[in-house]
Amino acid sequence: MTPYTKTLIGHITKVEAGSLAARLLEAGEGRLPRISIKGEQDMSGQPGSYVSIVQGDIKLLAVVTSITEVPASSGSGTGTGRAVNMIPLGEITTGGVFQNGIKHYPVTGAEVHDITRDEMESIFVKFRAQGYAIGVSSADETIDVCLDPAALFGRHMAILGQSGAGKSWTVANLLQRAVKRMPKAHIIVLDLHGEYSWEEDSGVRKCAFDERTTRYIDARDLEIPYWLMTFSELVDLLVDRADDSASSQIAFLRDCVQDLRNKSNKDLGIGHISIDSPVYFSLQELYGFFETANKTTSNFGKEKGPLAGLFDQFLMRLQSRMNDMRYDFLLNPRRRVSSDTLSDLLRDFVGLGEPKAQITIIDMSSVPFDVRPVVTAQIGRLAFEFNYWNPRYKEFPLLLVCEEAHSYIPREGNVQYRGTLRTMQRIAKEGRKYGVGMAVVTQRPHDLSETVLAQCSTFVCLRLTNPDDQEYVRDLVPEAERDLIDILSSLGQGEAMIMGLAVPLPTRVQLFKPDPPPNSSSVDFFRQWCTGPADLDVDDIVDRWRRQDRLRR
Ligand SMILES: Nc1ncnc2c1ncn2[C@@H]1O[C@H](COP(=O)(O)OP(=O)(O)O)[C@@H](O)[C@H]1O
Ligand SMILES: [Mg+2]
Repeated sequence: MTPYTKTLIGHITKVEAGSLAARLLEAGEGRLPRISIKGEQDMSGQPGSYVSIVQGDIKLLAVVTSITEVPASSGSGTGTGRAVNMIPLGEITTGGVFQNGIKHYPVTGAEVHDITRDEMESIFVKFRAQGYAIGVSSADETIDVCLDPAALFGRHMAILGQSGAGKSWTVANLLQRAVKRMPKAHIIVLDLHGEYSWEEDSGVRKCAFDERTTRYIDARDLEIPYWLMTFSELVDLLVDRADDSASSQIAFLRDCVQDLRNKSNKDLGIGHISIDSPVYFSLQELYGFFETANKTTSNFGKEKGPLAGLFDQFLMRLQSRMNDMRYDFLLNPRRRVSSDTLSDLLRDFVGLGEPKAQITIIDMSSVPFDVRPVVTAQIGRLAFEFNYWNPRYKEFPLLLVCEEAHSYIPREGNVQYRGTLRTMQRIAKEGRKYGVGMAVVTQRPHDLSETVLAQCSTFVCLRLTNPDDQEYVRDLVPEAERDLIDILSSLGQGEAMIMGLAVPLPTRVQLFKPDPPPNSSSVDFFRQWCTGPADLDVDDIVDRWRRQDRLRR
């Protein structure tokens, strides 16, 4: 008798390079494929649970991906039996240490065993020294799962899951533990819905992170002026690429921006100024140039100039935005009206302003929808440029957390935001080299830029039931782990399948609850429809709307 008999649950029936199949023991053969640990039934044989496969000296670790019913073997009375499909993950050496990759495959007939707690421990011991635990293994809740913070934050991560699956809670959990474990962490959170810092009805500001380590900034107070934008981002902002005269608008804009940047910065003494240089120019003057060109006539007003009338749409759009106070933080800044205000802005951004902070929450909820992509790209680019030009970038790595990333880093093919997309893709591709990590959070992976997702090395996949999104994620993860995507639709709230560099092996994890939790934006219809208010102050609603101030400050 081998010492394993108590854990034996089946035998291998099929061996392929990336997958294994086994038949589970049947009731008639003595036991059901379930064992109990400390009085609790564990998940043995369930999708997402681990098993070991033993044959002679070979000992593999595999994860179960599916379980199917098959006709019973002869002699058993039940009529059906069960078969499981598995993905081999790595080998457990004779010393009990887990290693990725498989050198020796078993043959059919090999024994399939439930995994013991010691074996589980040997797998998760890998990143334990860094002390960054973020949840417990779903297969054995007594085992903490530790991630490798270097890989997680330095090599980009994606947090994917449908609405309500627990993405925002996951972000809060990961960041809370990050700043606790790493007191010199530098994190910028793009908060689209005011979930990480919010004002309660009583007027008190609450925060999902320790207030001593966090700085809250309303994007509108920050002022992210137009003159910081690169030329192609300015095109995204000012030109509608669907206009008939879009190419003339772009060509003329190029000349104007170059001239204006040169002109207003002659005395900066920085030599060559490119069309992308982050130096001040006047939007009013730019408007003037376009207006003049649009009107210009020759031959004493009898003939139209070559550009006359081409810029009607451009002028109308720019004028209406310049008059709309919602865009003031971008187009009509009050404080940032000269090139030398840039250092202040950067300080605020990376948490070196007053007070210093590890986490900077940038609240985007008051930024109008149509300029969000341009503004977020600006924030991303400032973080990137900061470290790109920072001689000590190696000592000052930054993480940029992009909530609801699909809404401003769209898939290729969206023509309007070309410049913006290019900016975000550059961070995804090159950020790693300059110590800028990205965490993209989305409920629609399918709508998010492929280039950005493909650069992610760790995937925290929460519940995801949409088949299109599942297929899409399947193509992103390493080939050997693709079948695990089927598990995504069976995950519970706050439960994730974590794959990639930051975990020793693909792991089904029940994530810790963040403390405090972020502000859930969901509205409780049932409760409010049972006991909600009888009347509302509609004048106040109208007033807020007119003043474009939801929060009333
Ligand atoms: N780790 C967790 N443990 C327990 N419950 C969770 C966890 N994460 C999320 N939840 C539950 O799921 C709800 C939705 O989470 P949330 O992060 O707002 O989802 P999402 O951002 O994906 O829309 C939360 O209000 C909470 O009740
Ligand atoms: Mg959310």
